[in-house]
Order: sequence, then structure tokens, then C-alpha cells
Amino acid sequence: MYYIGIDLGTSAVKLLLMRSDGGIERIVSKDYPLSMLHTGWSEQNPKDWYNKTIEGLKELVSGYPADEIKGIGAGGQMHGLVLLDKDDEVIRPAILWNDSRATKENDYLNNEIGQDKLGEYTANMSFTGFTAPKLLWVRNNEPENWEKIAKIMLPKDYMIYRLSGSFATDVSDASGTLYFDVRNRRWSKEMLDICGITEEMLPKVYESYEKVGTIKPSLAEDIGVSKDCVMAAGAGDNAAAAIGTGTVGEGACNISLGTSGTIFIASSAFPKLENHAVHSFCHADGNYHIMGCILSATSSLKWWMKNIIESEDYNGEQARIKELGTNSVFFLPYLTGERSPHNDPYARGTFIGMTPDSTREDMTLAVLEGVAFALRDSLEIAKAAGVNVSRSMISGGGANSIIWKEILANVMDVSIDVPESEQGPGLGGAILAAVAAGEYTSVEQLSHKVVRIVDTIEPKEKLREKYEEKYNQYRLLYPRLKEAYKIL
Ligand code: XUL
Repeated sequence: MYYIGIDLGTSAVKLLLMRSDGGIERIVSKDYPLSMLHTGWSEQNPKDWYNKTIEGLKELVSGYPADEIKGIGAGGQMHGLVLLDKDDEVIRPAILWNDSRATKENDYLNNEIGQDKLGEYTANMSFTGFTAPKLLWVRNNEPENWEKIAKIMLPKDYMIYRLSGSFATDVSDASGTLYFDVRNRRWSKEMLDICGITEEMLPKVYESYEKVGTIKPSLAEDIGVSKDCVMAAGAGDNAAAAIGTGTVGEGACNISLGTSGTIFIASSAFPKLENHAVHSFCHADGNYHIMGCILSATSSLKWWMKNIIESEDYNGEQARIKELGTNSVFFLPYLTGERSPHNDPYARGTFIGMTPDSTREDMTLAVLEGVAFALRDSLEIAKAAGVNVSRSMISGGGANSIIWKEILANVMDVSIDVPESEQGPGLGGAILAAVAAGEYTSVEQLSHKVVRIVDTIEPKEKLREKYEEKYNQYRLLYPRLKEAYKIL
């Protein structure tokens, strides 16, 4: 049998075909555009997601026996606001996870409703990228669209709806809406009232590995999969990446270097965090996790390479870097503001510390280091809450860079375990599909069976010490720049 994993990302949809034994047969990727109409805005057309997914699915399964393709599971970019009217038409472009327009609504939730109440109802505080502030933004700014809303869903739930007709979501993705009661794994009545919406507008909540329906018969035929091909509830892309890297079980950690950068720590119990600068969410294995998210990880590197030095030679540029731990240039990777831990939509990308002998290599290195330092900021919050992390898996496109992994290991002081495939969310989605279809009974069992570690990068004492000093300098910069960002 075969299972399909859909990784519905920000720059592309990546589709993966997995055999029952966990082996990856084929990967197909289809790009779509991202619209940044105004500063701080980030939107996509849900129909692009659907059309590219269908195109990619046909390519993915071509040549494979349709009746052996038994399940589909999606890991999707989180927090995106997708609105449908009563005829199931998309009302406006989806407002994405890295959109920071809802500053007033974010302040209203954190300051007027208050973080204590938000913590009690949802186990989290508000960030501009979360779904609730963006929903309030539509209410405040687009009353004509607000009136039309019949269904509210997350990006991968739109795919599930179009593919199967089931109006469904899963606990891990729902956790990032800020109208979900994470502890009790259900919608929060208090938050629905605050947002002015009803439960009928929201999808039914499932555990990530549950079956929510089967693919529509006409699509099964058109794409070339089994008529009883099961749709799993799926997961937010970070929880799916965790499943796809074996990050299940108490304290297991995954660092994802995608457009965003995240540090994801699995927890068997509900995490009682006092500091909500990192998120407390449900995990896709039936448990919980905490997660810090920075908004620009590989997107910082892409910006530097494409827009500034106009090079496509990522390996070549990084090969020019001769020494780690001695760079006097720092980069704060806040190109689209910052989520964890600063919660600051006004923050901006910043190079600092250049001297007349600073080189192009120093600047490239500063970008790689800045992302690692920014992720360490979230690790520090987790450590302060008593969470101990000594090793981590790694996934996402940035995991292909040897030097970035070495920097991360030494900045974070963790051993980095490198899985055979960096396709975390896609593989995780396929694993959830195999469990939803009933071929496996436990996500944990299959996740551990499938994931093979091919390399481990250990921190080196001298380099770790140098990076400790550099990180201590880095962490002084944001508090001093905070007011300046507001002027900008
Ligand atoms: C997580 C987050 C991002 C997106 C990227 O909270 O916002 O990692 O899920 O797709």
C-alpha cells in the first residue's frame, strides 16, 4: 500500500508518496505565488493551493496502481485565515501566519481581554500571526466580507474540504487559532464569543491521526487513487514535521528551518507555561508540545542571496566561510517582525557590527548565525520553564546546509540528529494517513519505525564557548533597538 503526505507550505506544496514500510517513493513540488501587497501583509489564494495540489498529486501517483493508494494526510502552514461564504466560495485571499497587519487587534486581545484570560481560555497569548486577531481585523476593516462568512478554516483544512467534502480540522492546527482550548482539545466558547463567531462556522475537531472521510469519487478517478482513499485530519506543519522526524515522546525536539524557523519540544503532559512567549499546543500524537517560532529563517537567507548579493549558489557562498565563532557582524532576522519570544510586529531585519574589513562572507555567516541566535531565544524560555533539551532532530530546506547545522549545534549546545529525509511535514502527513487508514495503530510506533538518523552533529567545546559569548552579545541588541524599530 501507499500513502500520500501533503506539505502545504508558504512557497510551494510538496507532495510525498510513502510505502507502507515507510520508504519514500517519490516527491513532487509545485510553487505558488505569495502576495505582500502592503508592508506587513502576507496573502495567498487558496485556489492556487488546490490547483497546484491536484496537479502535483497526478504527477506523484502516475505509474502507481490506483487501488493501492489508500490514504492522504496533510501538514499545512499554520494560523492562516481562510473564509468561505454560504456557497463555499473563497471570500478574500487567505491571511497567512507571517502577516502582521492585525496590530491593534493583537493589542486589544493581549491588553484589554488580557493575557491572563487568554492563558486561561487557550493556554496562549495573542500574536499578530495567530488566526483570532486576523479574524477581528476582517471584522473591523472589511465589514462587507465579515457579513458573508459562513465557514472559517485553516489552510490545510481547506484542502481537506475540497478533497473530501469533510469540514474538519485537527487539534494541533486548531491550537494556533487562539480560539481553541488547548488543554481540553476543543473550541473555546469564551474565545468564540470574543471573536463574534459561532461553533457552526468552525470545522469539527479531530485528533490528527483520525479519519475524517474519504476522497470524493470523481477526484479519486481523476487523480488516480483508490476510491476508498482515506483522508486523515492531518496536522499543522510543525506537528507534522515532528511526526516525520520521530519527534514523539517526552522532551523529544525538532528544529525546523523552513520559511519560518521553529523549535518544537514534545510533552506528554499539558505544558503549564507562565511565559506564553513560546506556544503551548496539542501534538499530533495525542499529546502536547511547546514551540517557539521565528518568522524568517530560510526566508532571511533567501532575501540575502536573491535580493542583495544576487547569487543562487548557496553552497558556493557558504563554502567561502572559513571560520566560525569569530564574526563581529550580527544580523537580527526580523524581516517581517518577530514572533517568539519578542512578539513585535514592528521589528525589522538589522545588520550591525560591520567594520571596514567586514566581508561578504561575514554578512552571509551573520544571517545563518542570526537565525540560530533567534531560535536560541525561544530555547532559553523553555529552559527557564524547566525543560531540558540535549538533542534535536532537524528538518526543512535549511537542514541541507552543513554549516547551518554546525552553527545550530554550537549556538544551542545540543546534538543535532540528521534524519535521512528533511521532508518532515510531508512524511508526517503520510504517517498520519497510514494510521488513519488503519494499517498502523500508533503514530509513535510508525514514526519511530520510519525515521532513520544518518548523521549526528555534536557541539564542540571551544566553538560552543565562543558562541555562548556571541549569543550573550546578540541578546543585548533587540532590547536596545526596540524603540528604534517603532520609529521606522
Ligand atoms: C508556526 C508558524 C509557522 C508556519 C509555517 O507557528 O507560524 O511555522 O506554520 O508554515
